[in-house]
Amino acid sequence: MNPITPAKGLKGVVVDTTKLCLIDAERGVLVYRGYDIHDLATHSNFEEVAYLLLYSKLPMRKEYECFCEQLRQNRSVPDVVVEIIERIKDAPPMDVLRTAVSALGAIDPDSGDNSSEATLRKGIKLIAQLPTIVATHERLRRGLKPVEPNPKLSHAANFLYMMRGKPPTEEEAKAIDLDLLLHAEHSSNASAFAVRVTASTLADIHAAIVAGIAALKGPLHGGAAEAVADMALEVGSPERAYEYVREKLARKERIMGFGHRVYRTEDPRARHMRELAKVLSEKSGDKRIFETLLAIEEAMKPLQSKGIYVNVDFYCGCIYYFLGIPKDMYVCMFALGRIVGWVAHALEQYNDNVLIRPLLHYDGPTNLRYIPMDER
Ligand SMILES: CC(C)(COP(=O)(O)OP(=O)(O)OC[C@H]1O[C@@H](n2cnc3c(N)ncnc32)[C@H](O)[C@@H]1OP(=O)(O)O)[C@@H](O)C(=O)NCCC(=O)NCCS
Repeated sequence: MNPITPAKGLKGVVVDTTKLCLIDAERGVLVYRGYDIHDLATHSNFEEVAYLLLYSKLPMRKEYECFCEQLRQNRSVPDVVVEIIERIKDAPPMDVLRTAVSALGAIDPDSGDNSSEATLRKGIKLIAQLPTIVATHERLRRGLKPVEPNPKLSHAANFLYMMRGKPPTEEEAKAIDLDLLLHAEHSSNASAFAVRVTASTLADIHAAIVAGIAALKGPLHGGAAEAVADMALEVGSPERAYEYVREKLARKERIMGFGHRVYRTEDPRARHMRELAKVLSEKSGDKRIFETLLAIEEAMKPLQSKGIYVNVDFYCGCIYYFLGIPKDMYVCMFALGRIVGWVAHALEQYNDNVLIRPLLHYDGPTNLRYIPMDER
């Protein structure tokens, strides 16, 4: 028998090449299509970064305006999808999002067309529609009427507007814009890989995005931000952070918002999230949550020798809290940004496709004989 060591969790396995995103695990560098994330976070915005990821270059002004217009024109969702959301409004937001995208796929006139043009068109439509689905669900479950998209507002500002029914401040819109930009792409994480696996069977883009949403839901991926928020509430104050972390680690439990499959240093996105959380908490005058998170980060310092540092999800919850986004919607916020990366991954996969089909090493019994049910 061959001694086989399975690559559990596909750790360290390179499955393909990509031109979308580079992660330098040791130096904590993240690059979207050649541009450093710090450069983009400082100077760009969500729409421009979405264009960059989808079209492989920064847009000229005309191209940018055209792309923004395309997003604005595709924001609404058909009545039948709103009816489905209404019917299942008591389900968790991520389940509603997954179901609504699946329904959009079922009624899309181009659903069987996997050409690059049709996939890009459907992908851009989905990028535009996801915020509408999430905001519509939030309003319906609160017994409120959905708010029509506002074509005068940016992608980020319009989302907050549809959710709350009034336009956000410039600062609030900028906070969401940065959050979406930072979440837009991150190489072959579990949800992007799920998208690529699904696209590799030549299933359509809606099917691939449904797979991505399903994979994002878990607490080891997109669900971590919500778990961090629960933890911050449980800890309650900076003074309790050290004891909390010590006890949890002694029980061999994980602290959410720390560690990463790839980074062995601080996640470069965390710097921007920490800064944003600080600004919003100072502005609100309520610094308790932010200071509790800082104290947890300090208490986790000994784990840095193992390469466990804060990740992008650690400060998200704090930001969403100050923007009035309900806790069970946090993972949907991740999806609103990552949809761009998912669409770009599906396009890359279709353009140079090989069916993704790894092996499993069988280590169960062999030579068993079937025994009729009554004789077992
Ligand atoms: C993201 C994550 C799943 C990556 O896991 P991974 O690459 O499989 O890392 P491993 O499970 O191999 O962990 C390596 C070691 O670090 C420890 N570790 C990893 N993340 C940890 C955390 N958040 N808290 C405490 N210890 C952690 C593991 O227990 C393990 O310790 P050991 O070697 O003594 O057994 C993991 O870090 C985690 O569960 N983090 C919390 C959830 C989270 O924030 N997810 C969002 C990611 S963006």
